[in-house]
Amino acid sequence: MSNPAGIDALAFAGPAGFVEMTDLASARGVDPGKYLKGLGQRRMAIASPCEDTVTMAADAAARALHGFDIDPAEIGTLIVGTETGVDHSKPVAVYVHELLGLDQRCRTFETKHACYGAMAGLTASIDWIGSGRARGRKALVIASDIARYGLNTAGEPTQGAGAVAMVVSENPRLLSIDPTRIGDYTRQVMDFWRPLYSKYAFADGHYSIQCYLDALTGARQDAVGERSDLLAELGACLYHVPFVKMAFKAHQRQLEMERGGPLSKDHNESWRLLTDSYQRLAAPWLGLNAEIGNIYTGSLFLALIDLLRQAAESLADREVSLFSYGSGCGATFCIGRIGEDAARWREALDPADQLAARRRLSIDEYETLITATEQADTADQLDPSSYGLNGGLYYVGTRDHCRQYSRS
Ligand SMILES: CC(C)(COP(=O)(O)OP(=O)(O)OC[C@H]1O[C@@H](n2cnc3c(N)ncnc32)[C@H](O)[C@@H]1OP(=O)(O)O)[C@@H](O)C(=O)NCCC(=O)NCCS
Repeated sequence: MSNPAGIDALAFAGPAGFVEMTDLASARGVDPGKYLKGLGQRRMAIASPCEDTVTMAADAAARALHGFDIDPAEIGTLIVGTETGVDHSKPVAVYVHELLGLDQRCRTFETKHACYGAMAGLTASIDWIGSGRARGRKALVIASDIARYGLNTAGEPTQGAGAVAMVVSENPRLLSIDPTRIGDYTRQVMDFWRPLYSKYAFADGHYSIQCYLDALTGARQDAVGERSDLLAELGACLYHVPFVKMAFKAHQRQLEMERGGPLSKDHNESWRLLTDSYQRLAAPWLGLNAEIGNIYTGSLFLALIDLLRQAAESLADREVSLFSYGSGCGATFCIGRIGEDAARWREALDPADQLAARRRLSIDEYETLITATEQADTADQLDPSSYGLNGGLYYVGTRDHCRQYSRS
């Protein structure tokens, strides 16, 4: 019998520049411990005006197809999940369709639900395959986002940018998803939103943390019921990671659900149980999130890349949990199984070389980029080389209200 459908290929792409959190802390007069320990972040990726949701999505997708030897002609569905669309009408996905040279007989669309769009795309693709409509073809699901909260806001240290592309297929090499254990949750809340007139998100940050945890409770119950022994069976727990510390709060909630009550630092024994469980199941896979920052829809899948590049061999054929949360709010909790030979693909999915080639931005450069990005949608002509960019696909300005892309 074939494995359930799931993720067959996976790759990340992100901007060329980053900010060191210690530099931001000193510029904002904040104790660096707040960003490094309190939020768990080391760096955040910053996009220039020439790097947008389309260029990052196309780059990540090309890496996934090439790195895993997948012929673009095999793709029958293309979905881009994003909070950071480039047009109110035209989907990012259709630009990517052309840039990758995909077949015209391909269903192509964009999904939006804050940080949840890619999980929506992943489960829709699994349903597409399960229904028989795929006829042996594969789906390409891309998460691509630029997290923008604005200068001097509470959300500023939880920014970031990047894209994760996944190919979804029958008999996936990396991770199969159990269709009988996918749980969903929806509730209308105003915890984070971005009105049509704003490039920056509005967030009720502390409330959004509570909404996230309530959604985790609801989606997990829908997926696996009132289980008190799930964590003991799992090889890893992967979470939506707007900032690394959020994964600790989420893991605490899962353990509290299993133990039937709140855990507190004041009770040494149960707190040690929590920290041991977190160190075993969640903490080891948060390195990329700490290096890149919040990439909204892709952040859960960034943790999956980190897991696979480090532990695909030791966790081969083991089950892991995945939780995706999108403010507003919608969430999914599901159970996946790591492929038996997933470790063979470690090099194809590891973004270490890309990250090593990034440039550290001064806070002055970062602030200049943020301001320049505000004008980018209406700029006539943008020169990637003026941002130190070359050798890639870039957004180069808008002509007759049409976005222009060019390879330099
Ligand atoms: C996450 C967010 C709410 C934090 O807001 P804030 O009021 O600036 O920060 P806090 O005062 O809560 O401090 C954050 C953490 O750092 C800790 N901290 C503060 N100063 C510290 C220091 N010097 N050393 C170590 N830790 C420190 C706090 O105790 C807190 O930890 P806790 O959450 O475990 O209690 C804010 O960044 C935000 O709005 N982000 C965008 C929304 C978001 O990411 N939501 C997540 C759900 S989707």
